Amino acid sequence: MSTRLTELNDNIIFATLRDYVEQLAEEGLDGPPMSPASLHGECSPRTAAAAGEGARASALSPAAARNERPEAGASRAASGAAAALFSAYPGLEETGDLAELRAFIGDCRRCKLAGGRTHLVFGVGNPNARLMFVGEGPGADEDAQGEPFVGRAGQLLTDIIERGMGMGRAEVYICNVVKCRPPENRKPEPGEIAACEPFLWRQIDLVRPQVIVALGSVAAQSLLKVKTPISRLRGSWHEARGIRVMPTFHPAYLLRNPADKRLVWSDVQQVMKALGLPAVKPGRPR
Ligand code: URA
Repeated sequence: MSTRLTELNDNIIFATLRDYVEQLAEEGLDGPPMSPASLHGECSPRTAAAAGEGARASALSPAAARNERPEAGASRAASGAAAALFSAYPGLEETGDLAELRAFIGDCRRCKLAGGRTHLVFGVGNPNARLMFVGEGPGADEDAQGEPFVGRAGQLLTDIIERGMGMGRAEVYICNVVKCRPPENRKPEPGEIAACEPFLWRQIDLVRPQVIVALGSVAAQSLLKVKTPISRLRGSWHEARGIRVMPTFHPAYLLRNPADKRLVWSDVQQVMKALGLPAVKPGRPR
């Protein structure tokens, strides 16, 4: 084989491998290997216990099935685990609105991500939104600007919201699992997610969205307390502490795998239906 052909071959093999590794990372499979049961979406006893208070595919509680907004404090009432979550930070549950919550978080030093951040990226949007998007964590652009989803992935998310759903970006609420940028855009570690989790849940409690769209494996697995890959979670309704959750692929993944946009489009249509939003002709903002 000529050198040119060998190089071409190497490039193709490299690109295929890179796509495969990216797919695994998005699936959340870059951590310790999972048991065959968890790969098939079956719960281990530990996960089943967590799922009992959090995630359950296609078995929504009556309130979530009726598509009602959660009651104030519903997340705490839904489980004893939520009480333990909030008690990690005394005073957190007494925060009365998002501004108070932001003030409570302050110049956070509760995990090592603090050392590398420019801005703590709290969240943005309608404090009474019916629809909330939860991403993974800020990237470089978000860290620089202090606002979630403002980089390339953010532009795609904005497109999904505005052109796909016919809503305004300011109509929804957007935040992340972790509020500070993980270095080198790595995935947040379990300890970092745990340190931020009470803030995310307080944010959810205060906004009280009818529906949460979990963007990517980190958001979906954190909210639902499962290790199931995103490709198996996406496309069906789940529930976390009384709130409907639709997991879907992360916009950054879609930038690398545009063919999967059709799957996100189908997930988004389910969300629109649940919210009673009229369908939008593709490419035509309402
Ligand atoms: N990716 C995320 O998960 N969140 C952001 O805010 C930006 C990119």
